Amino acid sequence: MSETRRLHELNRVAWDQAAARYTEWHDATVAFINEGKANLEPAEREHLGDLRAVQRAIHLQCASGKDTLSLLNLGAAEAVGVDISAVHIKNARALVEATRKNAHFVQADVLDTPASLDGTADLVYTGKGALTWLHDIAGWASVVARLLAPGGRLFVHDGHPAIWLFDPQATTVQLVKRPRYFQLVETSTSWPAQYVGDVGNAPMVERSWTLGEVVTAVARAGLVVERLTEHAEDYWDGFPHLADSEKGLIPLTFSLLARKPHM
Ligand SMILES: C[S@@+](CC[C@H](N)C(=O)[O-])C[C@H]1O[C@@H](n2cnc3c(N)ncnc32)[C@H](O)[C@@H]1O
Repeated sequence: MSETRRLHELNRVAWDQAAARYTEWHDATVAFINEGKANLEPAEREHLGDLRAVQRAIHLQCASGKDTLSLLNLGAAEAVGVDISAVHIKNARALVEATRKNAHFVQADVLDTPASLDGTADLVYTGKGALTWLHDIAGWASVVARLLAPGGRLFVHDGHPAIWLFDPQATTVQLVKRPRYFQLVETSTSWPAQYVGDVGNAPMVERSWTLGEVVTAVARAGLVVERLTEHAEDYWDGFPHLADSEKGLIPLTFSLLARKPHM
């Protein structure tokens, strides 16, 4: 087994534990989707625009499907979600059954996304805690490129790699003790209390990809980068004690839009 696959397998086991918490949120998620709501951040909506022209959206690392079905509530005709966690995919299928939405879900490592989906996506959507779980960014980008139809778009909205440099508990912007930006790999055995809390202690391994690595992987896979935006807002309240006067000083998230050219 390659090192990438070994790390993805560790993460799969940890995510199965975390996904059990999402199972508890099933009823609330069904209500959210049935009310026609969409769990997308303002920056995501602004970058994506109207989704009514999207025939098929593929959501990579879709978790239990809330954001996947949100794409349908924003106008996409069909959505396909891919995730490595069997528990997440079971939750997502239960969500489809309860909401009768036009979506289906595939359990796979993103690197093994089935070839039957190749060339079928007007939109490949991912992010909000996605890329750090992957240990082969070039492999990820080549999967995105094969899934997209000519003219189709990739949209990523994810944590900015600079966040790892700053102390998440501080009230002012402070560097961590030994800041490291390049080739940062972090192992942990617990989840943030404000996220899923105490669900198990399987080890998980994250890798922070620099913006340069992400954009270069996308460009080398043959996509044309149309927009890269850095935002001072996050989607997870990762710096909860930061004084209002400090907010806006550092980038917390980024958005990337790229297009597969017509032949
Ligand atoms: C923070 S969640 C993303 C949540 C997502 N933004 C949402 O709510 O729709 C990260 C997801 O990545 C999945 N994941 C981690 N490694 C993966 C891999 N190698 N292939 C596919 N999915 C993976 C996890 O199971 C988890 O569902």
